[in-house]
Amino acid sequence: MKSFVILNLSVIVISGLLLISPTFSTSGTEEQTKSASAQPSAKDNFLKYCAGCHGQKMERFAGNTWEAFKAGGDLTGVIRSGLPQLGMPSFEKAFTQNDMKAISDYILEMKNKKEVPVATKFPAIIRSKHQAFKIDTVAKGLDVPWGIAFLPDGDMLVTERSGQLFRFGGGKLKAIISGVPEVMAQGQGGLMDIILHPKYKQNGWIYISYSKKAPDGKGGNTAIFRAKLKNDQLVEQQELFNAIPNTNSGVHFGCRMVFDDEGYLFFSVGERGNKENAQDLTNHCGKIHRIFDDGRIPTDNPFVKTQGAMPTIYSFGHRNPQGIDIHPVSRRIYNNEHGPRGGDEINLVGKGNNYGWPVITFGINYDGTIITKETAKAGMEQPVFQWTPSIGPSSMKFVTGDRYPGWKGDILSGSLSFKYLERVHLENGKVTEQEKLLENAGRVRHVAISPDGYIYVATESPGIVVKLVPVK
Ligand code: HEC
Repeated sequence: MKSFVILNLSVIVISGLLLISPTFSTSGTEEQTKSASAQPSAKDNFLKYCAGCHGQKMERFAGNTWEAFKAGGDLTGVIRSGLPQLGMPSFEKAFTQNDMKAISDYILEMKNKKEVPVATKFPAIIRSKHQAFKIDTVAKGLDVPWGIAFLPDGDMLVTERSGQLFRFGGGKLKAIISGVPEVMAQGQGGLMDIILHPKYKQNGWIYISYSKKAPDGKGGNTAIFRAKLKNDQLVEQQELFNAIPNTNSGVHFGCRMVFDDEGYLFFSVGERGNKENAQDLTNHCGKIHRIFDDGRIPTDNPFVKTQGAMPTIYSFGHRNPQGIDIHPVSRRIYNNEHGPRGGDEINLVGKGNNYGWPVITFGINYDGTIITKETAKAGMEQPVFQWTPSIGPSSMKFVTGDRYPGWKGDILSGSLSFKYLERVHLENGKVTEQEKLLENAGRVRHVAISPDGYIYVATESPGIVVKLVPVK
């Protein structure tokens, strides 16, 4: 047991060192608009079709094993067919063989020039529009940190998508928590969100979402369990939810969780790469769900009496909902979600509502083809706000408390694609101001507010957690 822990610690340190390697940075979107109107170059194509996921500077290829390259000597195979299990789309319809060869050559040329990873050096004091703050790094050496929960003693539990759960305190790794179930760490799946029960001090329940492998080994889907923490071990585990159907797809698992004031647990599940799921009430995918803290299903859920419908469903027509949080004043639930290419959304989540995916959307397919011409339809909700081009939103939190007076009540949302934290100000339910915070951070995977009101942000590449400390 002890040697296991030591082994893991050294692995973390090594990956941490690797991630904090030389840096260069540009502000992303400028290059995208520069492309000439005539024949797009391989670089233009890369920036248009690939950079959203792989990064403007290909930084998301950093640490890649280049299996696709080793297999065929070039990358055209993977560009043509994609890697559906891992979340890489097919570009068969977008490109000719020559285009694909040119993009492949361009990537390999950049790889050989070692034009790759990014590390972050923040200024000593960041002066944003309404708030100055400095950055305190409270956890490092992580790969893809996904969720954060703050324990009453001030320590912080951090999930990592690979399937590990860590306890950090005082800026140091204190323990690796054992008893985490095996996760389907495939594509976007793995160990995901972690939250405490609102009455944690009395009952000790911790809620964790993850991608669970099917018992027969064929695919998997999003699951939620609760457990208690004893001597750095998860004990008394109870599974509360497991989405159907299981699938081999490696994309769109959701899954963030929040408790509302009445103690209901709300959580999101993505449509698992199958658009049709989102409008089909007979499965759990592309939905936001509502259950009791012990997994029982409330009898006043909107589709409890609908023949064949999944009774946990609260709202539907979502694509890949990520963040979910309660508005500090109205106490209503908001979520954010990934559109395809364009059309990322913030929604006000209402009971029984249909958010329209894929019947209405402001986005198009990754390969440039049209999904639907409709952006609005009777019986379907409009987003509060939509991002085109996509920022790749991760989690979202409303700023609560008085630590950051200039941001009070604003939404903070991570951007995976463009690597910053976005602040969105709502006035009477409409967005009136937007600001980019933490530009050139890593891929912003999570934003959390601690019980004492501080903002924490988790990024990948580099895999760190930082605290935003307000300064006058
Ligand atoms: C929707 C996100 C997404 C888009 C868009 C995307 N990819 Fe990928 N790609 C992935 C994922 C996920 C993987 C698998 C994990 C990894 O290797 O990072 C992957 C893997 C790859 C690999 C395999 C690397 C290896 O190890 O051999 C190549 C090459 C690649 N992508 C090229 C491209 C190119 C070129 C484009 C644009 C034409 C593109 N990708 C667009 C998500 C994407």
